[in-house]
Amino acid sequence: MSFRYPTKTISVTSGKGGVGKTTLACNLAYKLSRYDKKVLIFDADLGMSNVDIFFGTRAETTIFDVMSGKKTIEDALVRLDSNLYLISGGHGIDQMQNLDAYARRTVLDSLKELPMSFDYMVIDTSPGISQNVLHMNAAAKNNIVVITADPSSFADSYALIKVLNQKYKVNRFSIVSNCVKNQEDGFYLFKRFQDVVQKFLFVSLDYLGAIPQDSQLKSANINKRIILKQDPTSDAAIAISQISSEILKSQYKINSSGGLEMFWDNLARATS
Ligand SMILES: Nc1ncnc2c1ncn2[C@@H]1O[C@H](COP(=O)(O)OP(=O)(O)OP(=O)(O)O)[C@@H](O)[C@H]1O
Ligand SMILES: [Mg+2]
Repeated sequence: MSFRYPTKTISVTSGKGGVGKTTLACNLAYKLSRYDKKVLIFDADLGMSNVDIFFGTRAETTIFDVMSGKKTIEDALVRLDSNLYLISGGHGIDQMQNLDAYARRTVLDSLKELPMSFDYMVIDTSPGISQNVLHMNAAAKNNIVVITADPSSFADSYALIKVLNQKYKVNRFSIVSNCVKNQEDGFYLFKRFQDVVQKFLFVSLDYLGAIPQDSQLKSANINKRIILKQDPTSDAAIAISQISSEILKSQYKINSSGGLEMFWDNLARATS
């Protein structure tokens, strides 16, 4: 058996809703899988679980069904494309808090029994600072925070970083600027955000890049297609490809310690 590195776990998150998390999570995961990496998307958005529709499928089984013993983890694993798989969190993560320690352990052990190993797990979260979102981000080794120029996105992402830092001791975040005019604007937005964050918090921010406001991305989304497939030469697709290769090559920006087991263990600890 060949040696595999532990799964790199990356959450895509934000303080404010509707800033492009699901778009980035799906396209990033797709792009990484095109680099011959095995990628799992964990759809952990409790309210608007919608990763599956971007890939023209429907996740019938969720982690919730696995927890209630009706289904196995293999039933919950949906193949989206070659090298690309999805598990839908459904309401399972909230539900986890209602389980006793033994039941929780059983669920988490079953989650570890995926039939294959993955190079990356990309987690699409709900927006905000609900317990569920905090737990997901605290369990993942890498947090990508998506920001836009909207003042409330700025303030809410700051609040998210603050609570993750103060309550969960997360001290490193990656930032993506979305819906910007161009790359220069995106970097300027990041610098402004970094100035505010570093004035008040002791955390480090890594800039991963910017995605321009792009009507082609909007129409790909309306058609429930991922832009990297539908329109790979559009501005937004090129930008997301660049962010993906940044993630692929950046050893120091993307932490690979722990892997999936550590993720589930951290989640168990956070929800207990
Ligand atoms: N760079 C962009 N250019 C144009 N439209 C964009 C861009 N990024 C996101 N959008 C649009 O913004 C809307 C929200 O995107 P998306 O669903 O990915 O956000 P989200 O953060 O996952 O939302 P939620 O918080 O509700 O889960 C969609 O209509 C999407 O098409
Ligand atoms: Mg979303």
